[in-house]
Parts: sequence; structure tokens; C-alpha cells
Amino acid sequence: MVIRVLRSVSAAAVVGSLALSCCMTPTMGAQQAAPPTAPAPIDPAAYRFADKLLKQMTLEEKVGQMTQVALNSPDGPGVEDRIRKGLVGSLLFIKDPNEINRMQKIAMEESRLHIPLLIGFDVIHGYRTIYPVPLAMAASWEPETAEKAQRMAAREASSFGIRWAFAPMVDIARDPRWGRIMEGAGEDPYLGARMAEAQVRGFQGKDLSDPDTLLACVKHFAGYGGAVGGRDYDSANLSDDQLYNVYLKPYQAAVNAGAGSLMSAYMDLNSVPATGNKWLLHDVLRDQWKFPGFVVSDWESVKSLTTHGFTADDHDAAVRAVNAGVAMEMTSHTYREQLPSAVQKGEVSIATIDGAVREILVAKYRLGLFKNPYADLQRNAAETLSEEQRAATRHAATRTAVLLRNEGKLLPMKQAPRTLAVIGPLADAQADTMGSWSLAGHPEDTITVLQGLKKRFPTSEIRSTKGVEIWRDQRSIFDDQFPDPKPTLTTEEAKKAEFDRAIEMVRNSDMTVLVLGEAQTMSGERASRASLTLPGKQQELLEAAVATGKPVVLVLMNGRPLDITWASQHVPAILDVWYPGTEGGNAVADLLSGDANPGGKLPITWPRSVGQVPLYYADNLTQIASEPNTRYWDSSSAPLYPFGFGLSYSSFAVSNVHAASETLRMGQPLQVSVDVQNTSDTAGDDVVQLYVHQRAGSASRPVRELKAFQRISLKPHESRTVTLTLQPNELTYWSASSRSWVTEPGTYDVWTGDSVKADLHTTFTLVR
Ligand code: NOJ
Repeated sequence: MVIRVLRSVSAAAVVGSLALSCCMTPTMGAQQAAPPTAPAPIDPAAYRFADKLLKQMTLEEKVGQMTQVALNSPDGPGVEDRIRKGLVGSLLFIKDPNEINRMQKIAMEESRLHIPLLIGFDVIHGYRTIYPVPLAMAASWEPETAEKAQRMAAREASSFGIRWAFAPMVDIARDPRWGRIMEGAGEDPYLGARMAEAQVRGFQGKDLSDPDTLLACVKHFAGYGGAVGGRDYDSANLSDDQLYNVYLKPYQAAVNAGAGSLMSAYMDLNSVPATGNKWLLHDVLRDQWKFPGFVVSDWESVKSLTTHGFTADDHDAAVRAVNAGVAMEMTSHTYREQLPSAVQKGEVSIATIDGAVREILVAKYRLGLFKNPYADLQRNAAETLSEEQRAATRHAATRTAVLLRNEGKLLPMKQAPRTLAVIGPLADAQADTMGSWSLAGHPEDTITVLQGLKKRFPTSEIRSTKGVEIWRDQRSIFDDQFPDPKPTLTTEEAKKAEFDRAIEMVRNSDMTVLVLGEAQTMSGERASRASLTLPGKQQELLEAAVATGKPVVLVLMNGRPLDITWASQHVPAILDVWYPGTEGGNAVADLLSGDANPGGKLPITWPRSVGQVPLYYADNLTQIASEPNTRYWDSSSAPLYPFGFGLSYSSFAVSNVHAASETLRMGQPLQVSVDVQNTSDTAGDDVVQLYVHQRAGSASRPVRELKAFQRISLKPHESRTVTLTLQPNELTYWSASSRSWVTEPGTYDVWTGDSVKADLHTTFTLVR
């Protein structure tokens, strides 16, 4: 044991480790460190208000507050009567502001205690105006963009009377097969944390009681993204090291940013379902993080504790979920049916019930719902799909696109092409352009790539056809919302004729934009994929188009990294626009024409094939360190595109890394500066990234970890010195060897540059 320690840790740490053996100090030469900070406390007036109300409530009314009814579930019809009796605390999936006001009026005027309803909805990336999907937002590497988008979404959704967003989803996802990867910020805990807190700020605004805010609901606590095999809902088996150092990080950031609620996840975490997981919901969330908000279950996840083989029946499920810390039940009605008797039998204490109800009432109070629960119909008319909303989503979509290839500077299109072919199943696909989780979006509001290009290049002769059709093989839960247009090409002859027609168009056009990728139902919930290639016959279409020898630009729409290995070698220009939202087509036209310059960077590693999955940059450098890319017999183990990668129409030179100090005291920040020069004639953005590696410690540390970044805009040939701050708590990690949070003295590597491949290197030594 000691020998192993001696081989692998720094001298200072060894001294500490000897101390460990003699005095049982829990860490090796390390400073004990608590995980960072705690959320701001809630105004005591909110608690006073809730306590007063609680005193007047019957047990049934209390359990009513803990009950959320989904209007589109079998429990929905007849809900008015239960609202009147004070037996419903929250509604979900109600969109019409008049209908929301009608329900609120019943709660406010006809129920005994006049407690308003909390109206929730999946405002994931917009409401009626759809913004780029969250994975795209992370690709902006610009928390301000994410914050602004959620602020705008909050303004619009709240004008409908909705005051609770089931977002942000902050689940780290390292397996692109998992369909819900598009709902989060990708693989990295640091980027994920910055995006999480930005979204919370955006939803909740400066003051929750402003009528244009939404209470954030951070989800799905926790580890949902670790689903085995990338199969949605499957168990996650995550070590404490992975949980604390990776998966929980964005959650804590969101909690510290003041998120008012959290959603418990569906799946088993290390064989304990998240919705009945006392360690997660109590020990971590309450004891360690001091979370003052409330927890809602996921859809029927209380009832399904029994499906897991965790609880015996509905009664057991209700008892164990509430005792674990779930304050409100979504959709299933075990609380309503079981909690009163459970209290009578002493299985659940009245203090537990009161604690849960208090948190819910506090949230309603903070939102100002007791004073003003209604949708403002005038504001609704002004806000819905307004010019300002459209401009904001168009801007966001230009910030989120990632340029993956641009051989011979094919892009931007310098002038309007005389003839332009816009080809592919997603070229003129309104629902797909919005992406999954656009539940209140209207496809007909959406600008497709074809429409955007027609508007941008009015003098060009633009022709368009699908070439091939795609549709999902496996059904997702959103099929009914935007039913797939039935394939129109039903015979082999028709398919061939369409394919040939498309290639003929390519051949006869000066330029072609191929819009390929995944239909919007192929990602999101219950939409995992076992392959990452372009679905259907899109690859054949792409290869045939390139074979014409005509210039081809590939525009990708996708909710996950795709295996585009062939395209990465043969298609001169590739622009990933993810699912860009309502103004997607206009944004794509901005980008292709050069009115906007792509500056997004990948928030997730792109593998070469599904066989490499999961593949992420922050792994530990183990045995045969010099050849980490030769771990497969039949493939490189290097990614196709690394984390943090993205091109621009500009070019940049990054030089002169300088750490403000070679020696750093624990608890001090370190400023690292680097010079960035735009070496081109085009104004553009680069993202300066800082990665750190701890050379030795009480546990193996990842080969690199992102610890700071900044997106900057530079004019042609402009140079700037960018200073990034490595915050002291970023060197703290949870050590599986000492089973505690540690900050360890020793040598640290620092790299800066504009992707995880950054090679400007320096070091510093951390001392006590
Ligand atoms: C289930 C999903 O897992 C969750 O993310 C969503 O918020 C709820 N359904 C409500 O739609």
C-alpha cells in the first residue's frame, strides 16, 4: 500500500500519507475542503407566511399541495372539482392562458384556503418561440447566451400563466446513444455547471416575484445521463468519485445559483431508485448542500418505485418517496391515495408532511402567486412570438453553430450563387428544425433552411428536394405531437427517382447545401439510438452528391454527436447547427452567407464510431501513457472531433501562456493569461479554454479538466491578452481514497488554447 502511494504521489503528499497511517488523518497531505458554498437563504417572510397557512390546513389539503395533476393524463378530467376541494397543488401540460386563468380562479375563489396553483411546463428551450436545444446552447460556450434565451423563454411562458419550468436539465451525458443528451450541456462538469447556473438565472430573473419569471426545476437528480448502454431509463451505476466530481457538479452549481426546485430522476442510481434515494435527496441535497427548495418526482416515478422492485406497492412507494425527500408527486396519485393513511399509521410523520408543504407554499409565495396568479393576456399578446423573441432566437442560433470543416474556405458563400440546390430530408422540415421538447412550439412558425436561404439569396435560382426520406424506426413519446409525415416514397422506383432527381439538381447547380441529420423525434426522451450514423439513406445521398464534383456544404441537424467519419474526410464544408429553433433557417442563412461567423465549440467529444462510446476527454491516463490512442485493434481510440473544437471563418493564433505565479497558496485564485490574435481579415470569435491536470494525489486525476473559458470577439488582425482565473475551489475534488473532499499540494499542469488539444503549457505548484 505504502509502496503504491510512494510511486504515485508527490513528496508533500507522501509526508501526509505517512501521517495518515499513524494518526488516521483522512487525507493525504491535503487540506480538508468542503464542497463550494451554499445557496442564499430564502426571505424569512416566506416561511412565516407558509407556517401561518399550514396551521389552517387539513391533512387532505396538505397532501393536495403535494399532488401535481397532468392534464393530458387519465387523472386530468374532472380536476376542477379537486381543485375546488383544495386537493391539487400543481398542474402540468396546460397551455391555453384562458384555461390556466379559469383553473386559477377556481383555486383562488372557490377553494377554502385560496391557495394558487403552480402551473408547470417543459419550457426546455423556449415555449412558443423555440430556441436552439440545450446541447446547442452549451456549444455557444457563452453562458450569457443561455441565460438570455431562458430569460426570453421565461418572459413568453409566464405570459401564458406558466410559472414553473422543468428545466434546466443538467445531467452530464457521455454516451451519445442516449437521446436525452440533447437536453443537457454535454460531457463536462465545469461547462455544465456554468450553463446550469446561467439558465437558473435566466429563468428566475432578478426577483422571482416579478411576473415574468419561472421557478427553475433542475433535473433529473441525479445520474440519469449515466444510463447503461445509453438506453433511456436504464440504471446508472456511478462511483462516488464520478458522482461527486462529475455528475453532481452542475446540480450543486444550480442549487447555489438559487434554483427553487429539483426533479428526482426515474432510474436506479447504484440500485437505489433516485426517487426513493435518501442519500441523494437528503444527505447530499439537504445536509451537504443546504438546498432550501422542494423536490418533485418525475412522471409517475413514485409509483414506478414498485416496478423497480424497490417498494412493495403504492403505499410503500408513497411512504418511502416522501420520507426520502420528494415533496410533490408528478402524475401518479400514490400520495393522494396513500399518505393520509400512512400518517395515521405513523409511517410518515406530520412533520415530514408539513416540511414538504411548507417548501411548496414558500415557492408559491416567492413567485408572488398569492397576489397575482393569473396570466396577463395583454402581455401574452405582445410577447408571444414577438419580433424581439424571434431576433433573440435567431441570434442564439448563430452563436451555437459549430463549423466542423471548411476546406478551401468554401464558406462563407462570398456572393449569391447563381443556382443553389438545397437538398435533404431536413432542408424544409419545420418540426425537425425546432428539435425535440418543443411542446408548445408550432411547426408552421418555423423558418426552415430552404426558406432562410431563399430570403437571403433572392436573386439565386434555388431548387430543393428531399432526395431521401427519413423516419424513425422506434417510436418516441412525442410521436403524437408532430406526427411524422408519412413517407411519400413508397416504392423502390419512386425512391430511386427521387434520389436521382436530387443528384441531378446537385449536378446542375453552382452550389449545394445538403441538410441532413436526425428527425427531431430521434432524440429526446425515449429516443436512444444504437448507431450514430446518418439515419436512412442519407449517407448514400451525401456520397453521391460529393461524387458529382460540385461544391457541397453539409448542414447537420442533430441532437447528439454523429458518426460522420466519411464526411469529415470528403465533404469540404460541414456546419453543425444542432436543432436551431424557430428562426433556424434564417440563422443558417446568416452563417452560410457570412453575415454571422460560426464560433461555437463542441461541448462533447465526437467519436469515430459507436464502438468507441463512451468516449470523453477527461479520462484518467492509465497504463501505456505514451500511446493512449491505440487501445483498439481495429480503430484509433482518438475522437473524430475533440471536445472544445470548432472552426471559424477567421483564424486565430494563441500564444504566450503566462501564469501569474509559479507557486500558489491553497485558497488563492490563479490568473493565467494568454495572447490571442485574429490572424485573418474577418472578424470572429474564439473560445479560450484552460485545462488543468494534477500530477499526483490521493486518487488518479483526469488527464485534463476544463477549469475556465472565455469566448471573445476579435476584429480582423486584432490581438488581445485574455486572463482566465482558476478559482481555488476548482482544485478541490472528492477523493475516493480518503473518501473526503481534498485540495492537495503538488505540481499542476496548465494548458490553454482553443480546444482540449490546447498545447500551450505551463505549471504551478500548490502549497499550503
Ligand atoms: C418526464 C421527463 O423525464 C421530464 O424531464 C419531464 O419534465 C416530465 N416528463 C414532464 O413532462
